Amino acid sequence: AARAGGTGSLAGRRVTISAGGTREALDPVRFLGNRSSGKQGMALAEAALAQGAQVTLILAHAEVAAPRGCDVVRVESALELRDAVLGALATTDVLVMAAAVADFRPAEVATTKIKKSDDGADPVISLVRNPDVLRDAVIARASLAEPLVIAGFAAETGDASADPLTHARAKLARKGCDFLVLNVVGSDLVFGKDSNEVTILDADGSASGPVRGSKRVVADAVIDHAARILSR
Ligand code: CTP
Ligand code: CA
Repeated sequence: AARAGGTGSLAGRRVTISAGGTREALDPVRFLGNRSSGKQGMALAEAALAQGAQVTLILAHAEVAAPRGCDVVRVESALELRDAVLGALATTDVLVMAAAVADFRPAEVATTKIKKSDDGADPVISLVRNPDVLRDAVIARASLAEPLVIAGFAAETGDASADPLTHARAKLARKGCDFLVLNVVGSDLVFGKDSNEVTILDADGSASGPVRGSKRVVADAVIDHAARILSR
């Protein structure tokens, strides 16, 4: 149903989008990062704004600027991103997890710059698992008063054990979110590219797509899908 405050399928609705790649500190000057450009997240923010939503962008490191008109919460690490996402849930109608969240972080963060050692030994960096923010959001949703649509992204390759769709369906079941936007990754990486091809997988097992086109075309399809789930 349409709401007061504008037009569009998400008029009066609040959309939270996580975007960019997290950076996991090693010491005051170094981090472990990833190649996420943040472009898909920005396109999602634009698409949600175009549908009349009030948009909060929880933004890790990105190569592109946030679109005008959204509230930006800057974060660095996966732990910061989790706090920001969980903190936004009570005032959110749709959460889209487009951020590339590091699966691991250094077990210890040195408070001073790590120096080359005198004994010539090669350093070893121990890693620990980061929380699964998407999964944590799904768990937190259970105690919210209002409905919340939660979507995730997944880039999958086929391997000896299963094809990309099978991997994605298993991931969707593990995460427990409403839908997963599946990118089938071939030898040419999606990171940094301006176009995309995705399939939207629903919790009920149905698949729609493929959606082919710019990241904005993909974003429009994702936002449209979320708006439809919200209104049913
Ligand atoms: N995600 C998250 N928290 C993490 C890792 C991933 O919220 N610590 C989210 C991503 O933002 C994305 C979705 O989960 O929306 C799927 O990310 P992906 O890396 O494909 O899933 P993982 O569970 O980390 O599985 P894998 O071992 O295949 O990397
Ligand atoms: Ca991962």
